[in-house]
Amino acid sequence: MSSFVCLVVVFVLININNTRNVVAFSEYSSSDDDVDTNKYTRNDFASDFVFGAGTSAYQVEGAVLEDGRTYSIWDTFAHSGFYNGANADVTCDGYHKYKEDIQLIADTGLEAFRFSISWSRLIPNGRGSINAKGLQYYNNFIDELISYGIQPHVTLHHDDLPQILEDEYGGWISKKAVKDFVAYADCCFREFGDRVLHWTTFNEVNVFTLGGYDLGFTPPGRCSPFGILNCTRGNSTYEPYLAAHHLLLAHASTVRLYRKKYKAMQHGFVGINIFFYWFEPYTNTKEDVEATQRANDFYVGWFLNPLVNGDYPEIVKKNAGTRVPSFTKLESERIKGSFDFVGINHYSSLYVKDNPSSLEMDVRDVVADMAATIIFDGILTPTQFPVAPMGLQKILKYLKEEYGNPPVYIHENGQVQPRNGTLNDTPRIEYLQAYIGALLDALRNGSNTKGYFVWSFLDLFELLDGYNTGYGLYYVDMYDKELTRYPKLSAHWYANFLKGKNMSGILPNVDAIDSF
Ligand code: FCB
Repeated sequence: MSSFVCLVVVFVLININNTRNVVAFSEYSSSDDDVDTNKYTRNDFASDFVFGAGTSAYQVEGAVLEDGRTYSIWDTFAHSGFYNGANADVTCDGYHKYKEDIQLIADTGLEAFRFSISWSRLIPNGRGSINAKGLQYYNNFIDELISYGIQPHVTLHHDDLPQILEDEYGGWISKKAVKDFVAYADCCFREFGDRVLHWTTFNEVNVFTLGGYDLGFTPPGRCSPFGILNCTRGNSTYEPYLAAHHLLLAHASTVRLYRKKYKAMQHGFVGINIFFYWFEPYTNTKEDVEATQRANDFYVGWFLNPLVNGDYPEIVKKNAGTRVPSFTKLESERIKGSFDFVGINHYSSLYVKDNPSSLEMDVRDVVADMAATIIFDGILTPTQFPVAPMGLQKILKYLKEEYGNPPVYIHENGQVQPRNGTLNDTPRIEYLQAYIGALLDALRNGSNTKGYFVWSFLDLFELLDGYNTGYGLYYVDMYDKELTRYPKLSAHWYANFLKGKNMSGILPNVDAIDSF
């Protein structure tokens, strides 16, 4: 996002919140039944609970036109100038450095690693023939992880539909994308499913839809001219609902395919990933409490309700009316239950206020249909999140109570900081320590969470602001042509935690940088 637009958005949102501050979240960062977040070890978690970290293809691989890869919508989006000239043409050069990276992954003691496959590297035309070099790359990557005993957790679509399909039929606003995605997934299951047991169809299916088709700040960057970004293409009134519908149909068909064709042989699991804020009502008035529920229904229920109950939430259908496509009876039956786990990405908690006047607008988008104001308070392009781990506990409780306690993987959680080369990332350690403690608390309260992945393993090309901020356990020096990786203090902290050490309030010494 251009920094000007960011500033405007942040300024407007900060000013909405002139009477209450997010610091208030620290009020509920602990409660009586909390685990003391300073006193736990790896051994307090079940041995089959997995800890890892993650990356995604476009953000880490580079080599964007090498060995047959073609552009994805994220390449195009980055090259359109959204990141003020930055792009991931090279980024961490993970494509060439994967052995070195997997060595680091193993040295850090990660038990599992989350990464994504670039569809346009594997199948450069979007459908049809497989690129032998792309296939070889992912086979090598998976084999290398497995040689260290590290579980691969693979995402099939992390904001990177092949551009060729966007050009041909408009990508996810066309139902044609469903068939092409299922064929691509089929190829992945066939080629890699003997070694990969955990598959996620879509990363942040809700952010991809809202950012890509309503607000325009993520690929493919489509929105109506009335939006903040004033896009040149798109329609925020209709397209988000259409894209969401096709993504859900593609997800359900993929799971159906896996269950029919591969499950008995490969014994794997297929899920979907959803971005979660924890929303708190801004005041305890009935209006704000109901607005908060609406915000949850529009952000999360939009996808989880069909998956759990076979249809969109009533409030989504009511407020968006005929703009929400309907599922046929058969589609609804097939979508319902079409997941083995829910992946969640969570970073922060936000307040929500009622905003009934948005329903009076003549032309509405999803945000207006929600009739709720989310108080972002600078969190859209943050430089450090408040530590409010209770948000994670509340999400897991919400999933337990509202959606039948499905198996969950926390696919992304981590602390953002300006990417300035410092290896002393104490705020990240404090954040991780608190959130992992909250997770343990949630598990003790019956959450069905199966694994936790830090975002991100390396500092990489970030979705919202390119190279300005980083979440990495490892710093990557972009100014060094070798793109050398350096462990931050958080990498040491996590490695020691994974070794079973008691890390109570321990901040590793910066001088001990090479010794795990
Ligand atoms: C999420 C994306 C991920 C990363 C984090 C910070 O929205 O899934 O790729 O950029 O945000």
